[in-house]
Amino acid sequence: MLIKKAPDLSESEVTPKALFVKRREFIAAAGVTAAAVATNGLGLFGGNEEVAAQNPDAQKLPNLVKGPFGTDEKMNSYKDVTTYNNFYEFGTRKEDPAAYAHTLRPRPWSVVVEGQCGKPGTYNIEDIMKWAPIEERIYRMRCVEAWSMVIPWAGYPMSKFLERFQPTSRAKYVEFRTLVDTKQMPGQTEPALPWPYHEGLRMDEAMHPLTLLGLGLYGEVLPNQNGAPLRLVVPWKYGFKSIKSIVRVSFTETEPVNTWKKMQSAEYGFYANVNPQVDHPRWSQGSERRLGEFFRRKTLMFNGYGDRVASLYAGMDLRRNY
Ligand code: MTE
Repeated sequence: MLIKKAPDLSESEVTPKALFVKRREFIAAAGVTAAAVATNGLGLFGGNEEVAAQNPDAQKLPNLVKGPFGTDEKMNSYKDVTTYNNFYEFGTRKEDPAAYAHTLRPRPWSVVVEGQCGKPGTYNIEDIMKWAPIEERIYRMRCVEAWSMVIPWAGYPMSKFLERFQPTSRAKYVEFRTLVDTKQMPGQTEPALPWPYHEGLRMDEAMHPLTLLGLGLYGEVLPNQNGAPLRLVVPWKYGFKSIKSIVRVSFTETEPVNTWKKMQSAEYGFYANVNPQVDHPRWSQGSERRLGEFFRRKTLMFNGYGDRVASLYAGMDLRRNY
């Protein structure tokens, strides 16, 4: 999705001490106590040596439960998932978010809710994390750039999050926006995208049981480069729908304009359903390369989730509504 190059950010901005202090502050603010870590629920990823080796400061999510959906395909490594990212707020190269997202401060964090709902307001992340049991769900994710990964997400159904705000019958869509702060997100000093990154779903898509409010992965709180502290996860749509580091949720009557459609409407639509029959203008969407694999595999309609989601689009021309 590369459009423009983000600025080169100096590595000297990072000192090990600063990193250490920041992580300590984060742990304290998150309320992730040593006891909670020791008794980590089912311990689904307890003792995962790869996570520990890659990220000794990884903070386990307490009381993780096994979710009702998920694939049993081989998961991508923690390294793949956390070092090959798209997060243009930190640069446009895949390795930029892992290198530079340490400047993001996921605590304190709050989300503003507005628009067609009975309970608009400002809600903080500590409360949000308690609104439903946090589940582990292993989803295939397919990027519009024709690569894919299998990621063990942690989060809870987006419906449980949105219901709290009592959307009215006039709420037909929900729009999400990412933080704008050039200090925390230095890539925003460049016009790589129109900031803030924003995305939207139709209400029935957002309330679908597969749609997740992402709060973690591999059993730990979300690493910054993956969209800390909360993001959207929609596994049947191209990855760009899954907006990271959300600060604003708006219930709207009309279809929101999403970042990539605004940027290049001939290439990226609002729906963004994974559809191998509709080529991207510059490349085929018929196959994909799973990270870590050599041979390409066939891309499945709705990323393989068609039995659950195809009915949402009954009667729609998915070539026109791409
Ligand atoms: N959200 C924000 N705020 N900024 C971004 O640049 N990139 C999107 C999406 N969410 C993006 C974003 C794209 S193109 C993809 S493929 C996924 O995040 C990548 O998520 P991952 O890095 O956790 O795999």
